[in-house]
Order: sequence, then structure tokens, then C-alpha cells
Amino acid sequence: MAEAGDNERHDAIDALMEESRTFPPSEDFKANALVVGTYLYDEAAEDDEAFWARQSADLLDWAEPWDTILDWELPYSKWFTGGKLNVSYNCLDRHVLAGRGDRVAFHWEGEPGDTRTITYGDLLDEVCQFSNVLKDLGVERGDRVNIYLPMIPEAAVAMLACARIGAAHSVVFGGFSAQSLADRINDAEAKVLVTADGSYRRGSVFPLKPAADEACTNAPSIEHVVVVKRGGNDVEWVEGRDKWYHDLIDGASTECPAEPMDSEQLLFLLYTSGTTGKPKGIMHTTGGYLTHVTYTHKYVFDLHPESDVFWCTADVGWITGHSYIVYGPLSNGATQVMYEGVPNHPGNDRFWEIVEKYGVTIFYTAPTAIRTFMKWGATEPAKHDLSSLRLLGTVGEPINPEAWMWYQEHIGGGRCPIVDTWWQTETGGIMISPLPGATTTKPGSATFPLPGVSSELIDDEGKRVDVGGGYLTLTRPWPGMLRGIWGDPERYLETYWSRFEGRYFAGDGAKLDDDGYLWLLGRVDDVMNVSGHRISTTEVESALVSHPAVAEAAVVGAADATTGQAIIAYVILRGGQDVDVESLRSHVAGEIGAIAKPKMIFITPDLPKTRSGKIMRRLLRDVAEGRNIGDTTTLADESIVDELRARAAISTDD
Ligand code: WTA
Repeated sequence: MAEAGDNERHDAIDALMEESRTFPPSEDFKANALVVGTYLYDEAAEDDEAFWARQSADLLDWAEPWDTILDWELPYSKWFTGGKLNVSYNCLDRHVLAGRGDRVAFHWEGEPGDTRTITYGDLLDEVCQFSNVLKDLGVERGDRVNIYLPMIPEAAVAMLACARIGAAHSVVFGGFSAQSLADRINDAEAKVLVTADGSYRRGSVFPLKPAADEACTNAPSIEHVVVVKRGGNDVEWVEGRDKWYHDLIDGASTECPAEPMDSEQLLFLLYTSGTTGKPKGIMHTTGGYLTHVTYTHKYVFDLHPESDVFWCTADVGWITGHSYIVYGPLSNGATQVMYEGVPNHPGNDRFWEIVEKYGVTIFYTAPTAIRTFMKWGATEPAKHDLSSLRLLGTVGEPINPEAWMWYQEHIGGGRCPIVDTWWQTETGGIMISPLPGATTTKPGSATFPLPGVSSELIDDEGKRVDVGGGYLTLTRPWPGMLRGIWGDPERYLETYWSRFEGRYFAGDGAKLDDDGYLWLLGRVDDVMNVSGHRISTTEVESALVSHPAVAEAAVVGAADATTGQAIIAYVILRGGQDVDVESLRSHVAGEIGAIAKPKMIFITPDLPKTRSGKIMRRLLRDVAEGRNIGDTTTLADESIVDELRARAAISTDD
């Protein structure tokens, strides 16, 4: 890893433009901002544990107070031990009890244009009903429930219902294949699967139930499948196992007490790609996680819950959806937009139409989306009145300064601060980001760690870097940190804590400029970031070699102007086999999901390897990105590079 990682890091540092534009918060924005100046930073710097404790006490309702703020035995942290609280109570009941039951929780917009308005009161009732349903299906505290749903309100209902009764949810993104779903169900040994018949995508119904059915044939732990009717498509039905959501809800009581849970009760598992083929079940617990996401959602987005309309465009199947559609915003009593479909149906201005329609004030999306909007042109947002917007955010991958500037000008009308938020599935919530009323931003920089967060760049020897490039590490525990990898403590230790003594290593490279601003440079390991989605090269390689015609495969992430990175595969076929590239791409989609489909596959007679037999990925990436290849003397067979380049040239001509 070190060799490829270093090269990648230096390439990225070289490629980074000198960026000298700065954007201080405007007087207008500061006038109503929650945080102006440095007081939060100062407080946290004095005593970070006391700082987090104050946030937790101020922002959450605890049923029983904690004894200990932090119990830290590297690499395991426990937060607020002895304390009890219920996440669903904090997200719902307390708002309703305070007389805000009529406030809109979700303006939900279906892709075909149908809508639902769901108040906090409505949401509480439905969550209680579904909690009772889950209990009737035999779900108990500590059990796992799998959720495989489109972007419909029932996804949030199902998650909150699990939280209410102390079952952990494991949400699997609807774009994952049956195989990926089965792997995740089996790893978590979930009892119940919540899915839908299908949902709307790009103007037609995208069926989900067939994949859920197929997954269940290989997932013996599933006792019940609850099916939300959304697409209206025909579905197969397994009597005894399958039940319609609406039938179960109908008649279920809206009374379900929110039982206080231990602060360290498992709240959810969320699977993410690592550097091996097997996804990791990242564990998040109750009190610390909710503190972290409530605090970051409030201050990073400068939330004024009585007047703001917040829209995070992520899917609930990813951590961004967990933390900034479900838990953070609902805990803060925010009003949100939730949208089912794609940004270009029926037209390329769908997002801007939605912003105008609901008066969205805070908009949070991914750089890959922004680059796509740039491609579609500034005339699309210009068709709509976007003057309600007052703050913009990005997440998921580094944002290039040009995309940042375009976002600022064409979406933000030059008046909205941008918060570029760095964090990970593992961190639970935002770690590095501006505070919009307090931080002078630079396009492309995530700026500084938030109050309460401690990060450090270090070099290969583990020495601190104050200016220049290095590895991003976190030096102090934080409340939203992962509590481990489900069923695999060894891997937890190995993945995050073994590279640098006593530090959490995030897998990202970064640069510190002369002013102390952090510039994230992307992964330094074998994890690709495609449209903000993490996919490991090994995962795609295993999918490819599981095809009967494939002997060997090497996968790299190559720079791509829209998706950040694109998956490029080099494949050696088994003797005498012939297969077309399209069927290999479909095979990968079937194994993992459409998001992992390689953009290009090159069939090659050989792969560049070192004399010791290691595939030279760096070289493959150079070829894929059309760079000049330097020293190839360590290659076992130098002629293979010319061969690969010739093939790459042919494909670019296509
Ligand atoms: C990348 C998504 C640069 C990074 C919340 C990280 C970013 C991985 C940023 C985590 C950002 C996320 N700037 N890179 N603002 N935000 N990343 O687990 O490589 O899906 O390690 O969590 O995304 O991806 P994950």
C-alpha cells in the first residue's frame, strides 16, 4: 500500500492548483449566525470532553444522566456511560410534547410529482405503529433489521422504529444487488427485511422486490419480509414470510413507549467498502452518535429550525442520509425536503424546481452532482427563483475549486457561504468543515477541524506535518466514532489503528497550506471514490474473476471529470474464452450493484507486474489517465505497457 499510496499522494499534491481566493462570511450572514467568532473553538480547546458533555446536555434529552463522559481505552471509546436515552424520543416525541407536532418534518416529493407532507406528529404516530409491528414480528432489543428501501418516508420510519425499540438497523442502498444484500443480511444475521415493491427512477418503475426475494433465498436468518407498496409493480409473494407494510400498519396502535436505552446500545450497522473484498459492518451506538450528529447539523448548517428548510440530496442508504436526513435534522426539529428520484427527470432543472417549490434554505449535495450540473449549464438553475437559499454544503469527495466557484455563483447567487464537510461512515458525523458564520473559506478547502475534533497530518514516519502533504489522522476520540467492525475486532484494529501508533488513520491524504487550511486529496489506499461512493478495487476484481471467462483482473480508479474517479478494469481471459465487455460490466452490476460497473474494461493478454508478481496499479492508473509512464524497469515484462497503451488509445477513439 505504501508505495502506491505515496505516489498517489504526491501526484495529487502536484495537481492541486494554488488557490488564493478567500471568502469571509458576509455581514448579512453573520447577523443571524449561531456562531460568530471563535468562542466554540476556544471552549473545546480548553477541555474537549467537557465541551462534548455540554453539547450533549444542551442538545439532547437524557432519560437518565451519565456517570462518565468518556471511557477511552484505545482503540475503543464509550461515551456517556451510565446514561440512558431514546433516539426516537429525541427525534420525535420531545418536539411533539413541546407543541411542535404540526411542524413539517418532511416535504416528500415523489419522482412523478406526487407529494406527501409529514408533520412531526404524523411521523411520531407512524413510527410508533411500525415499532409495534416490529415487536409483533418478534423483533427484540439487540436484534438486527435490514432495510432495503428507496427514498420514501417509510425508510426514515423504519429506522426510527428500530431505534425506538432498541433493534439495530442495517440499511442497504437500493442500488446494491441481491448478492450484496444477502452478504450484508448474513453478516448481520437480520431477522426482518423491510423493502418495497419498487420505486420511480428516471420516469419508470425500478423494481426492488425481486432482488430482495433473491437475497432471501440465500439469507436464512430472515423470518419476515415487510413490503412497502410504492411502485405498484407486480411482485412475487412468499406466503407466511411476506407482508404488506400498509396491512401491518393498519390497526397498529400509535402508542409505543420510547424505552430509555443505554448510551452505548447499538443503534445501527452500516456496511462500507474497505481495502478487501468483504464490506465492513461499521458499528454506531446511541448517545455519542446522536450528540455528534445533532451538534454538527446545528452548527455546520447554522440551523434555525423554525424558519429553515433543509435539503440533503443523499440517499438514506449511505451514512450521509443516516446522519443528515434522519438523525441530525430530526433531532434538531428541522423541516426537510426528501426527494425520491434522479436530478434529471423530467428535466435537468428538477432540483432547482424543488428548491423553488419548497423554499429550500440550506442545500447539501455531492461534488459529483455539482460537476454534473455544471455540464448541464447555468441556464438550468437560472430558470428558477433560488433566492430562498442561504447556505450550501458539499460532502463525499474533494471539490475542485472551479466546481466550488460555480456552485457559489450559479446556485448560491454569490451570497451563500459554502461548507465543504469532510467525514466518513466511520466518523459518524462531520469532522472537518467551516462554521459558516465564523470561517473564511477558500474554494476547495474543507478548512479546519470542528470544535471538539482533533486532527493531525503526519508523514510516513509518523512525524507531524505543519505545512505540506501528509496522511490525515485523528488524534482524540470523538462521540460519533465507530465502535468497531461487526464481528471482526481484528480487522478494526488492523484497518484504522495499526498504521500509526495511537492514532486513527482515515485513509485520506491531505495538505496543509501556509495559513493552516486543510485540503483533502482523496484516498491513499485501494478504495475508489466514484461519485462519492466508496468501492474497493478488490471488490470489483473479485466480482470480475467470479465470471467463468475471467482468469485475472486488476481494477484502478482513474481521475474522471464528473464522477471524481471512474472504475477502469484490466482483464485477462481464461484460455480459449471469449466474452464481450458489456456482459462483464453487467456481471459486476449483478454481483455488487450498478454503482460498481466499470466505466471501461480492457481485455489484455497480460498485466504489468513486478518481478515478485505484484500488479503495478500505479502504472495501470497512469495508463488509464493517459499519463507518461516513467521508470518501468522493475516490470517483469516491459512490452505489456505498450500493449496496454495501444488498447487505451483505441478505446479513447471510440
Ligand atoms: C471522502 C461520506 C474530500 C474521503 C460522508 C473519505 C471527502 C470518504 C469529503 C468517506 C470532503 C468525504 N472532501 N473528501 N469534504 N467527504 N470524503 O464513508 O475520501 O462514504 O474518506 O462517507 O469520502 O466516504 P463515506
